[in-house]
Amino acid sequence: MGVNTNLTKAKSSKNDEFYTQWIDIEREIQAYLDFDADIFRGKTIFCSCDDPEWSNFTKFFALHFCEYGIKKLISTSYAQESKLYKADYQITLFEKSDPKFDDTKTLTNGKLFILDRDAGDHNDKIDIDDLKWEYLSGDGDFRSNEVKRLRDQADIIITNPPFSLFREFIGWILEADKKFLVIGNMNAITYREIFPLIKDSKIWLGATGNGNDMVFGVPKGTEVSEEDRRKAARLGYVGDFTRLGNSCWFTNLDHGRRHKPLPLMTLADNIKFSKHKEIKAKKAYRKYDNYSAIDVPFTDSIPSDYTGVMGVPISFLFKHCPDQFEIIGATESEGRGFSGDLWLGGTAQAMIDRKRVYKRLFIKSKGDPR
Ligand SMILES: C[S@@+](CC[C@H](N)C(=O)[O-])C[C@H]1O[C@@H](n2cnc3c(N)ncnc32)[C@H](O)[C@@H]1O
Repeated sequence: MGVNTNLTKAKSSKNDEFYTQWIDIEREIQAYLDFDADIFRGKTIFCSCDDPEWSNFTKFFALHFCEYGIKKLISTSYAQESKLYKADYQITLFEKSDPKFDDTKTLTNGKLFILDRDAGDHNDKIDIDDLKWEYLSGDGDFRSNEVKRLRDQADIIITNPPFSLFREFIGWILEADKKFLVIGNMNAITYREIFPLIKDSKIWLGATGNGNDMVFGVPKGTEVSEEDRRKAARLGYVGDFTRLGNSCWFTNLDHGRRHKPLPLMTLADNIKFSKHKEIKAKKAYRKYDNYSAIDVPFTDSIPSDYTGVMGVPISFLFKHCPDQFEIIGATESEGRGFSGDLWLGGTAQAMIDRKRVYKRLFIKSKGDPR
């Protein structure tokens, strides 16, 4: 397929082909190890929707297999022909030079990679050279029974899944009651399938990168906006890279950041000293027309001594400490109304002076967490 056809295809379909950078994985994983050095010890890790020939999750855990005390690493990749965005496909030397290589299956089948023992090669430790592989019988779709059986063996699922199937992917993890760490789009926070889980502290955001640009590798020929290309280059990634300003980690693994209460000023001190003119100049926090709560437009302006309900930006979740605040609700997402007590009133909108306030979470203090 030519590059032009690829570009058209990329525009017309949801492009899930972007690859996580090593440094982002390393930074995030380190946060869990800092909290619990044995978090991966004796565990089976499954990197689904991954492909160690192109991407980094499997490689990362293979490299640290002995150091982290991992019991087994499983990884599956998705067949080239099933991908929505079909980049010009190049078969790796790794696959082509293997006697198992099959020139039909390389396009139609996913692959399974397993690391669980030393293959008796150049050294006595288990590492990436001991990774065994075979073709899956299907295309590696995470929803297939074949991949579900692999999921069921795992203790922790770690990957960057297709953003276009994010809701389904989280459902797929939780129906099997697994621990997980995955990358997703920040917008997912207010999806009706995801928000109730966040509200009930069943899932939360990861420890690093939150709210910052994340850079991803893309297949050659992928259309990347000039601005994203420039921003990726400014972060040191020149060439086939893009950046997403709205991606973040979602997890149900505990980490230290979520036990660090936000340092906050009292309401009186905010009004006196706030660096935000919206609060200092007005000498008050505004109230909603249709809900009994104050609007707090900046996370660092949450008053420490306010006992009622507060509407805060969604990015509050990057700093949320569940010992400090309880999450009560959110405004609607995706322009869809939502009835039920998670959401604000029948209109699911927060209004001030009859104008809609853009996405808000509603929180309440749990008292001094120290
Ligand atoms: C965002 S990319 C991330 C790839 C890799 N995990 C990484 O982080 O570098 C998501 C991958 O999932 C694959 N994918 C898309 N739909 C899938 C499905 N239904 N089942 C399994 N994988 C899928 C895409 O082809 C893509 O390679």
